[in-house]
Amino acid sequence: MSAIHPATAVATPTRRDNERKASKRTVLMCRPDFFTVVYRINPWMNPQLPTDTSLAVRQWEVLYQTYLDLGFEVHLIDPIDGLPDMVYAANGGFVIDNIAYGASFTYPERQPEGPAYMDWFGEEGFDVRMPKNVNEGEGDFLLVGDVILAGTGFRSHSNSHEELAAISGRKVVTLELVNPNFYHLDTAIAVLDPQPGHPNPNIAYLPSAFNEEGLAILRARFPDAILVTEEDASVLGLNSFSDGYNVVIAARAKDFERQLLERGYNPIGVDLSELLLGGGGVKCCTLELRR
Ligand code: ARG
Repeated sequence: MSAIHPATAVATPTRRDNERKASKRTVLMCRPDFFTVVYRINPWMNPQLPTDTSLAVRQWEVLYQTYLDLGFEVHLIDPIDGLPDMVYAANGGFVIDNIAYGASFTYPERQPEGPAYMDWFGEEGFDVRMPKNVNEGEGDFLLVGDVILAGTGFRSHSNSHEELAAISGRKVVTLELVNPNFYHLDTAIAVLDPQPGHPNPNIAYLPSAFNEEGLAILRARFPDAILVTEEDASVLGLNSFSDGYNVVIAARAKDFERQLLERGYNPIGVDLSELLLGGGGVKCCTLELRR
């Protein structure tokens, strides 16, 4: 009989646990049936290295099953042959109040994904808004409480931030990313309390991914934020998905796991090493649908 190790298996109950509440999430995912790395649009990608599509699918299945076990409603979009990055569903758009703001991708390799995701939103009854400006969906837009944190610098243009503010009626806070390894906002910030309108939502972030101006904003808005180590960020540990209590993270992000436990969250580690070869992790594979 193997003993259950509290640090890796189940969260040790702490007084703070009562403050954390799991909430049901509804998400969209895309099975990586056609995943491979044949072009390089971020520093993680190396077309010279082999990829194992069936391993990517098996690892992705674990994430999918984890969400089902947590009681999430998981929708699937059909993958398209020739669009190897389509597995990173977070980039497919940004959905709020049943409005789906479409993505307009930076690089030609991914541009056909924009209409593919918009078609899916339309078929599912979302109010689809065609984007006028370059943006990569929830990769760069994160809803925290009542505001949307918005990344720029590598992918989404800042004029898309204004466009989303007008469409959503939410305040959009621009944050400039400065490290090419953390080129989407969801690689540098994790939303820990995702419930819309949460009165006191917290985040985790990697300070060195931001310029001074952005850091000042983050420090002022989130004085209690978890600051993750460079080591954890370099396995895309921040690229995680929380329901307010359970936080699905990269299994290798050990210090982040420790900090989450300390704050009364329940970290659940998964291994997406194959999808890391494309520069994505847990959150990249997950697009939140807010009806
Ligand atoms: N290879 C993809 C790209 O560079 C990875 C996207 C990761 N997605 C994310 N939401 N961070 O566009």
